[in-house]
Amino acid sequence: MHLLIPAAGMGRRMGSDRNKLLLTLLGKPLLAWTLLAAEAATEVTQIGIIGQPGDQTDIQAILADLALTKAVQLIPGGATRQESVYNGLQALPSTAERVLIHDGARCLATSQLFDRCAEHLRDCPGLIAAIPVKDTIKVVDESDIIQDTPDRRRLWAAQTPQGFEVSLLKQCHDQGRKLNWDVTDDAALFERCGLPVQIVAGEETNLKVTTPMDLAIAEFILRQRLAASHH
Ligand code: CTP
Ligand code: MG
Repeated sequence: MHLLIPAAGMGRRMGSDRNKLLLTLLGKPLLAWTLLAAEAATEVTQIGIIGQPGDQTDIQAILADLALTKAVQLIPGGATRQESVYNGLQALPSTAERVLIHDGARCLATSQLFDRCAEHLRDCPGLIAAIPVKDTIKVVDESDIIQDTPDRRRLWAAQTPQGFEVSLLKQCHDQGRKLNWDVTDDAALFERCGLPVQIVAGEETNLKVTTPMDLAIAEFILRQRLAASHH
């Protein structure tokens, strides 16, 4: 199955002067950790990295260093994540029936999670990895007054991988472009088109590295993992 990795962001909330995916985490760029998990996932056969042309040299260097066995394609990114994924979908061969999409910034996702999502995707048109929300979530109005407290048992924190039937997701992206939908994940496009998106158990450690604190937490988790694997 094809895997698309959106990696074309700026990392503004990280406050660094370059794409956060090129920052080093335990001796390797963030993106390298994501790619190693994809390489280890048996269900993933081809990898498309969606990156900004300005980052291409750095991404090529990461690929040269990792020497992955799987076929890798570089795809130019867009101004938003949505545009980047759109470009990725256009770059898929017409034979690709299903696709997994995974944020480069979720560099701690395990290969098992990729495989679990790919296996479930045989039985449904759309799915996302997600975990139950731990906090009580408030819906707030413009004056910061709470309007609602949704029942936490029905709230899930969306992660990636997200997986879809390619033809359906392409239709949803086209619809979103036509009607100017502004969304932060692909599931939202699927939902707005009235298509079902199934939840698959995600991983608590599968955080999206967004701020400097996330980077510190990611380093902690990776250290624990590496220590455990050396026993
Ligand atoms: N992404 C992308 N193309 C964009 C914007 C984001 O491919 N134009 C990717 C990022 O590289 C990341 C994923 O989408 O892997 C999730 O986005 P996010 O965590 O928001 O990353 P950034 O947009 O880089 O960070 P920020 O929003 O803080 O600038
Ligand atoms: Mg962003």
